[in-house]
Amino acid sequence: MVGSPRKDGNVDRLVQVVLDGAEEAGYEIEKYRLNEMNYSGCQGCNYCKSADNCKIDDDLSGLLEAIREADAVVFGSPIYFYLFSGQFKLMQDRMYSFIDSEFRSRLAPGKKAVIVTSQGHPDISAFEKAADEFAGIMKILGFEVAEIIRMGGGGAPDAVLERKDLLDKAKATGKAL
Ligand SMILES: Cc1cc2nc3c(=O)[nH]c(=O)nc-3n(C[C@H](O)[C@H](O)[C@H](O)COP(=O)(O)O)c2cc1C
Repeated sequence: MVGSPRKDGNVDRLVQVVLDGAEEAGYEIEKYRLNEMNYSGCQGCNYCKSADNCKIDDDLSGLLEAIREADAVVFGSPIYFYLFSGQFKLMQDRMYSFIDSEFRSRLAPGKKAVIVTSQGHPDISAFEKAADEFAGIMKILGFEVAEIIRMGGGGAPDAVLERKDLLDKAKATGKAL
């Protein structure tokens, strides 16, 4: 999934290359651009602590179902003020419905996650906490984090086209899933 509003931006392109690699490895692929979907943030109603799904029925319902079914998920977001984008964060909170009343994940264990970020600052260590903390959430949900791909210097949406190293890493990551 792509949490950047920039279609054909750095996150979108890197996520696509991971998906291309996974497709070459035999995966069936689905891609979601969060910015093109209509959805709400978590309402904190705790319905999902007695039922096993989120009560809200909107464009995220299908994505949450797809995550339940998937063997691997690619999570992509730009860095906005040190964090993942608002579009991504609203989706992230809705994954609370994957956690039961005992704080155990309802997801089948062993799903793989790939995390893709892009930031304007050229030094990736400047904003690495966002992806590291999201990797922690992934582990709570039972995912194995296969790779974190971090793009720096991503001010221009097509800056990643100059980063053969990252494009190669994205392709190899997808193939290895
Ligand atoms: C609202 C907003 C906040 C941003 N905050 C940061 C930031 O804290 N650190 C940074 O390095 N870049 C920041 N940027 C730049 C983006 O992270 C950068 O352009 C990124 O490559 C965008 O990814 P995309 O090409 O996939 O859209 C910000 C951009 C926007 C629009």
